[in-house]
Amino acid sequence: MGYMEINEPIMVTMTDTTLYGAGEHTTSTDTEPSFAYDMGGADKAPSPMSVPSYKELDTTYIAHTYGRFDVCFEKGDGVLLYDTTGKEYIDLGSGIGVTAFGSADALWQQAVIHQVKRLNHVSNLYHTLPQATLAEKLCQKTGMKKVFFSNSGAEANECAIKAARKYSADRYGDERTTVVTLVNSFHGRTITTLAATGQDVFHQHFHPFTKGFAHVPANDFDAFKQLVDSDSSICAIMMEMIQGEGGVMPLDAGYVKQVADYAAAHDILVVVDEVQTGNGRTGTLYSYMQFGIAPDIVSTAKGLAGGLPMGATMFNDKTEGVLDAGSHGSTFGGNPICAAGAISVIDRIDDALLSEVKAKGQYIREVLTGAPGVLSISGMGLMVGIETTADAKAIANECLNRGVVVLTAKNKVRLLPALNIPRDTLKKAVGILKEVIGEMA
Ligand SMILES: Cc1ncc(COP(=O)(O)O)c(C=O)c1O
Repeated sequence: MGYMEINEPIMVTMTDTTLYGAGEHTTSTDTEPSFAYDMGGADKAPSPMSVPSYKELDTTYIAHTYGRFDVCFEKGDGVLLYDTTGKEYIDLGSGIGVTAFGSADALWQQAVIHQVKRLNHVSNLYHTLPQATLAEKLCQKTGMKKVFFSNSGAEANECAIKAARKYSADRYGDERTTVVTLVNSFHGRTITTLAATGQDVFHQHFHPFTKGFAHVPANDFDAFKQLVDSDSSICAIMMEMIQGEGGVMPLDAGYVKQVADYAAAHDILVVVDEVQTGNGRTGTLYSYMQFGIAPDIVSTAKGLAGGLPMGATMFNDKTEGVLDAGSHGSTFGGNPICAAGAISVIDRIDDALLSEVKAKGQYIREVLTGAPGVLSISGMGLMVGIETTADAKAIANECLNRGVVVLTAKNKVRLLPALNIPRDTLKKAVGILKEVIGEMA
């Protein structure tokens, strides 16, 4: 039985051969079937599946690596999210800075669905138009020369680290391998990017970590200079312009420039981790553009494909030839569906949108600065950290009760709303957040 013949909502599981056939080709239909995981919510009849099942399933079958909030989201519409009971939320987190234009955005959907219907995957043994087009757009908009595509921020950083080490090995031999990162940084969850991460709390349980990383305090140029002067093994410095997971902590522009200049003078590569800060989040396409530097390598992910997994590592004229045939690869990296989603995101990040991002970030600062329970505000554009007198996690929980989704980072409330969040919706959500922070002060 083929997919075309389905016109009644039916219960299926993803391995149901009566729906998909045993390996049989299926063609698309406009009739929307109902799947086993449809739980009711905003526009569906409740499924016969017992309602608390998401918790049971989670407890029974999912590795307990996350401290999850007690909510199961089922549907989204722009910056509004709906849980399985139909309750509406304003989303100020965008899936940790991923859904750049919100949930189920119409233009993004069109781009992705168009590609889903044409070609979903062929591997990197072959060319595909979305991948090539996306690479051209990223290079044209940044001045970088080449892109390597992967699936996540950690992978984009792994690629950056490999390229930095190979650049140095090609010129100076195998001893020049150390990548400097900053204390309080976050670069990912693989063994190597954990080692790169400048927080001791991430350096437990999984020994041995990858060798060849040194951590220096942020905004302390002398510490970096002293390290470079005393250690001939340094090949690169990797930094986030705003330490996101570290509590939304921007670096000083003067420090960044000094470090970049000193690094360039010693042929030490400057790698900027734009996984969280990139793709319009801070009011420029990439945040380094506000720090007056031209990095040798830039990594990004999160918002790039608007909700599909994609990482990218970009190389300038100095580093573009480092990764040669066979030196790196990825099965899924640059997948045509993710690339199509990313093109629709990158195409829309224009000057008008970026100035709105800055204005809305400024609005949040103005509303919350000096409000009861607010100690300080940090960040740039629509990447905002709010230091509060009350516990940030407790504030996030209470906001969720009142229908607003916010994030935390270290001891701060963190906001990463969709770049196109409507002003009135933002106003309403920030009003509720302000109220909660004040009440819990
Ligand atoms: C700056 C930075 N780098 C790397 C990562 C890792 O990205 P991913 O979770 O996609 O591997 C993150 C994730 O939060 C990040 O914020």
